Amino acid sequence: MRRLALGLLAFALGASLVAADIDMDVEIKEKLQHFSEYRFPSVRHEANWIKAREYIETEFAYYGLRVQKQIFNTTVSTIDGEKTVEGVNIIGVAGATSNKPNAIVVVGANYDSNTRENPGPLFNNGAGIAALLETARLFMHNVKWSGHFKQNFTTIFVAFDLNTKEHDSGPGVPGGWHFVNEWLWNYLNKTDTNFGGAFVVDSIMNINQEPNSQDTSEIFRSMFPETFNSMAKNGNKGNFIGVVAPSDEKSKNLKDQFVGNYRKDRRKRPFRLEDMTLPSAINHNQIISELTTQETIHFWAFNPNGTSRPLPALLITDTEKLRAMPPNPCSGKVCPPKAWLTDEREEFLVATVKGLTNTLLRRQATRLPAQPDNSSKATLPSLFTVVVLLLLGRFYQ
Ligand SMILES: *[C@@H]1O[C@H](CO)[C@@H](O)[C@H](O)[C@H]1NC(C)=O
Ligand SMILES: *[C@@H]1O[C@H](CO)[C@@H](O)[C@H](O)[C@H]1NC(C)=O
Ligand SMILES: *[C@@H]1O[C@H](CO)[C@@H](O)[C@H](O)[C@H]1NC(C)=O
Ligand SMILES: *[C@@H]1O[C@H](CO)[C@@H](O)[C@H](O)[C@H]1NC(C)=O
Ligand SMILES: *[C@@H]1O[C@H](CO)[C@@H](O)[C@H](O)[C@H]1NC(C)=O
Repeated sequence: MRRLALGLLAFALGASLVAADIDMDVEIKEKLQHFSEYRFPSVRHEANWIKAREYIETEFAYYGLRVQKQIFNTTVSTIDGEKTVEGVNIIGVAGATSNKPNAIVVVGANYDSNTRENPGPLFNNGAGIAALLETARLFMHNVKWSGHFKQNFTTIFVAFDLNTKEHDSGPGVPGGWHFVNEWLWNYLNKTDTNFGGAFVVDSIMNINQEPNSQDTSEIFRSMFPETFNSMAKNGNKGNFIGVVAPSDEKSKNLKDQFVGNYRKDRRKRPFRLEDMTLPSAINHNQIISELTTQETIHFWAFNPNGTSRPLPALLITDTEKLRAMPPNPCSGKVCPPKAWLTDEREEFLVATVKGLTNTLLRRQATRLPAQPDNSSKATLPSLFTVVVLLLLGRFYQ
């Protein structure tokens, strides 16, 4: 009797092993290595900037995305003054044969950097672009190559170039503006009907456990009262990832899906997620200025031909300038990237990648029923478990 029960248990365990076969091996370290140097169109940093672009393009194609390059002109300020440069947004489309209202989702991150020492090219925004690449890789692996998911809806990954709002002063128009106004809107046939929203991943590696490392200004309190209270209870530590979202219906849906997937992982973590929903009826020019330099602003403030048409978009961020930077681990000297990537920061990054990938898989794709007959990789471990547990059953008779 007991043997039969154990046998059944073993079978159930085996079956669940087959069903749990989503590839979620996040390899963030390897990606980060490609974004540890300054990437900027000035004499000293131009080569790294081009190299980062080429790397992203190659990776997107390798994952199976359809790659498009959106070339635009903008101006940047360098030590020699202002100059016009060509920027290139790299767009990787995972197209679906049909879409429905709210179906299309965009995930984007900047790949250029400014030339400032603080927070440096790894934090802003090397971590964000590495997370974008890993999310794209894991999504495509699961929907295109593993046979475990079928993609339903179009999902677009975009690596934005030249976020001039985060460079030193200058009138240049950022890559994100060009993407929304000159690519996305045409792609959507000039209607937001099928658009579900965008995730913008900007500065996501700075987790700071020092008390009072988080900004507690009055404007922050009035804008995000709940986050402010929860920070106060935690010694105002910068130990959370923020999801900044407008309060429209589409942004709210997308945010709820991400928050749900991020928190699904119930392991105890030394950090949390803060839902930073903006007050309803807030104008984009009233938003706390530190949260308007990221590319989300071009969705929130979308204004084709003078008519305001805000598009749904979420900013996933460690709040950037609202959080103190960690001290340099190499005491003032130039640090190799791996010195910055502590276990805690890695865990912090991985949590965002998993939250995003699970959101995309659940929202943009459908799980296919397991096919135990054919995929030997999935069935062998479960057969093995059945045998081991049956043997154990013998011992306990
Ligand atoms: C950028 O400016 C250069 C020089 O004026 C011009 O040749 C080029 O076509 C422009 N590129 C775009 C994408 O507008
Ligand atoms: C997604 O695609 C699968 C497989 O083609 C289909 O069975 C399912 O109904 C689709 N889901 C939605 C929400 O359209
Ligand atoms: C835009 O219109 C074209 C042509 O009618 C159609 O094939 C395409 O699916 C539409 N795109 C979206 C995003 O709805
Ligand atoms: C603005 O209007 C012009 C002329 O009607 C049109 O060609 C253009 O696509 C519009 N721009 C946007 C972003 O809708
Ligand atoms: C295994 O999968 C391949 C490709 O999908 C298919 O052609 C083949 O018939 C399958 N074999 C079995 C035993 O189901």
